[in-house]
Amino acid sequence: MTQICDFKLGPLNHVGVAVPDIEAAAQHYRDVFGVTDITKPQDLPPQGVTFAFVNLPSGQIELIQPYGENSPIEKFLKNNPKGGQHHVCYEVDDIHEAKSVMEARGMTVLNDPRIGAHGTPVIFLHPRHNQGVLIELMEKQINTDD
Ligand code: CO
Repeated sequence: MTQICDFKLGPLNHVGVAVPDIEAAAQHYRDVFGVTDITKPQDLPPQGVTFAFVNLPSGQIELIQPYGENSPIEKFLKNNPKGGQHHVCYEVDDIHEAKSVMEARGMTVLNDPRIGAHGTPVIFLHPRHNQGVLIELMEKQINTDD
């Protein structure tokens, strides 16, 4: 039951920033901010994005650039041609539990759980119920020793 559910957000995992040119954006973080740990851009066809993580001591910036036809960030970049802050991502223990709790609490869940950039399932919550912020929930990664 929703009332007694102990669901709560886990750590902030990353902030998503949509960019028109991911290589240029990564270079910007190197040149201007001195960041040396930036992952190589990778395509994520199911989500229609190419992504790279800027690794910082306290977390990550996820740079995302449109990939393929009908990328979900195409329209965002049309409205923000130089790029812009696109979403924030929090970790949750169980993505299916998170989806049903969010729906029960009146959030608009935009997709069924699908594999995100960290290789774990993610869902997105419509900004209209979250102070205008697009929220990504990702199932936390299980640390393995190998
Ligand atoms: Co993200």
